[in-house]
Amino acid sequence: MTERKATLKIDHLADPIELPIYSGTLGPDVVDIGQLVKHNYFTYDPGFVSTAACESKITFIDGDKGILLHRGYAINQLAEKSDYIEVCYLLLNGELPTQAQKDAFLHEVTHHSMVHEQISLFFRGFRRDAHPMAIMVGVVGALSAFYHDKLNISDPQHRMSAAIRLIAKMPTIAAMCYKYSIGQPFMYPQNHLNYTENFLHMMFGTPCDNKQPSATLARALDRIFILHADHEQNASTSTVRLAGSTGANPYACVSAGIGALWGPAHGGANEACLTMLHEIGDVKNIDTYIKRAKDKNDPFRLMGFGHRVYKNYDPRAKVMRETCYEVLNELGLQNDPIFKLAMKLEKIALEDEYFVEKKLYPNVDFYSGITLSALGIPINMFTVIFALARTVGWLSQWNEMLSSPDHKLGRPRQLYTGHTDRNFVDIDKR
Ligand code: SDX
Repeated sequence: MTERKATLKIDHLADPIELPIYSGTLGPDVVDIGQLVKHNYFTYDPGFVSTAACESKITFIDGDKGILLHRGYAINQLAEKSDYIEVCYLLLNGELPTQAQKDAFLHEVTHHSMVHEQISLFFRGFRRDAHPMAIMVGVVGALSAFYHDKLNISDPQHRMSAAIRLIAKMPTIAAMCYKYSIGQPFMYPQNHLNYTENFLHMMFGTPCDNKQPSATLARALDRIFILHADHEQNASTSTVRLAGSTGANPYACVSAGIGALWGPAHGGANEACLTMLHEIGDVKNIDTYIKRAKDKNDPFRLMGFGHRVYKNYDPRAKVMRETCYEVLNELGLQNDPIFKLAMKLEKIALEDEYFVEKKLYPNVDFYSGITLSALGIPINMFTVIFALARTVGWLSQWNEMLSSPDHKLGRPRQLYTGHTDRNFVDIDKR
């Protein structure tokens, strides 16, 4: 196939610059601008709105059509027919597992779900009211101290074992964050429980009873994990890739990703959305908040609405909305005032021309916050749950980057608008 090119004509350059164009299997073509630096030019794209930072085969998003595929499988099919452990296998390995492969993978994950006993001592250093994300960033980063010496990131086996360790231990650490905040003892994982039931057991079980987690609620939470597993080159995944490009160990990279996810513009939106709904408090206040969301001079944003890529409905939000209804009906909370307020806000926003014109639809975080709240998860644990679920996406993308022979250190440049060269002035002359 003839190579396609973009021709860039720059006023003071004698000859136009020819830039190769590459096509993927889906989505926009890309212009390879790598040689621009030879002509003493950079591209300029703050926020990377029009920038493809890498090639990937893991997740495809079409923001206009509201499409999300993981290794080619549509998110609604995975949410309906698969489970989180199977989606983890798919994201990491590229294919759905056979029953034997799935059983072996689950066995591996189950038998790595305990953390080193020393790790429970880390929690003592935190105040009981520390935000669980602050604890997660610290404890996950500290896992490096337990494994980095057995980790050669250029060895695919070592990379996969680190991925399995992290996928296995995130629920344990997340539940430890919660237990520490309420002064209850840590619960050990139970090998006879499946991945999500185990998490609910560690979150809500106590040494005083052996209540089995609800299979219905575990199924709902498992679907939430699936919906949050991976999402192309979002801010936290790009953070993990950039950290990984330096050769940092995967525990440090995932800790960096957790830090990036925490922001309210990203994974912190589900917590911010619930806080916002409680702040709105009553349907009669909705118009005031919608007005604030439109006011350019007011930093207030309608949390749970809008998305950098989805300029149509977030396909995850559709599934999340159904799950939300199922959980609320299952728990008899369909008349929950916060849920009713959320539905009213959704209706008003979807009919408001500001939101319609700017294509601001409810995103996955709008419904996940309400559902997690109904499941009894405290608001400050919402982003921890998001981090738990996204760990497989971060590690799949990290592994894909390191598997590529021509991966290189990520190091963006800049447009410099600061002072030109000037001489130092002694303090008595300033
Ligand atoms: C996630 O990248 C991913 O894939 C992320 C994620 C994942 O799975 O990893 O999907 C998870 O982070 C979902 C998004 C969660 N964030 C929120 O719900 C926070 C509220 N949303 C906004 O902060 C905002 O929509 C962003 C940050 C999500 C996207 O913002 P962009 O792409 O930078 O777009 P923008 O801020 O330039 O908004 C475009 C316009 C602006 O108005 P103008 O300057 O053009 O006049 O829309 C307005 C914004 O002011 N706008 C909003 C709004 N979101 C955008 N106005 C009010 N309320 C909002 N929520």
